[in-house]
Amino acid sequence: MPDLVLFDRERDQAVLTLNRPDKLNALNYALIDELMLHLDAIEDDDSLRGVILTGRGNKAFSAGADIAGFAPDVMASSDLAWRHFARRGQAMTQRLENYAKPVIAAVNGLAFGGGCETMEACTLAVAADHASFAKPEIRLGFPPCFGGTQRLPRHVGRKRALEMLLTGDAIDARRAHEMGLVNRVVDAGRLIDECLALARRISRHGRTAVATTLRAATRGINLSMDEALAVEAAQFMLAAGTPDAAEGVRAFLEKREPVFGG
Ligand code: COA
Repeated sequence: MPDLVLFDRERDQAVLTLNRPDKLNALNYALIDELMLHLDAIEDDDSLRGVILTGRGNKAFSAGADIAGFAPDVMASSDLAWRHFARRGQAMTQRLENYAKPVIAAVNGLAFGGGCETMEACTLAVAADHASFAKPEIRLGFPPCFGGTQRLPRHVGRKRALEMLLTGDAIDARRAHEMGLVNRVVDAGRLIDECLALARRISRHGRTAVATTLRAATRGINLSMDEALAVEAAQFMLAAGTPDAAEGVRAFLEKREPVFGG
């Protein structure tokens, strides 16, 4: 059986490619499990500073959860639907959202349903100019369940999110950018290069500074301000006092570029 997720290395970045192009890279259970294993391995590999996540082909990033795959569970019972389908999807998007290294979604085509939720959970997102985004779950008779009812309103605001969630209609890449759903829109042919360039703007900084900044922002956004500031303080204290922090401050005072440890 072919790999459902392809792994490539581009210097200090892992490129993960969802690999079911004939099914528009729909996320079946096995693909989600394989993606999780890759994330575990990349997390343990100190030579990799981040992940670019994309889909194979030029039509789809992902058309969402695999409908044929989850159908038996959703039709059988809410318990099976939760345990096999929704819990797996929530675990995947939580893993991406809380990942210790930046994950950039390279949205190479349509990102529908779970594909859109996967993109929402990533640290950053860059869309090809022909990309489109939708929440079609309502047509199937249930709400999104990979975090899409929660992350989308946090990204774009309640009314914009509810328009997508309740109509199921698609929006194009330009609109997604206007709404703050993606960081930028680029020519399709330049998508991966743009993502790698963006990743390197991040990986030139110290590892601890990147990890603590990422953690503070992603954890804090879901908390009250008091709790969030406690998270920020804890993450700051993990970075302050390290050799990288000393080097960063010293380099500024000495008017030179910092050289961070590996
Ligand atoms: N799950 C399983 N298979 C899917 C899929 C999904 N989410 N999305 C697409 N596919 C499959 C199709 O069944 C088709 O397979 P087949 O060739 O074996 O019949 C193949 O991918 C190509 O899709 P197709 O529908 O022919 O492409 P299209 O360009 O006409 O339409 C979409 C594209 C995205 C509009 C359409 O595929 C679609 O509505 N997909 C479902 C999206 C969705 O509801 N996602 C949320 C799931 S919770």
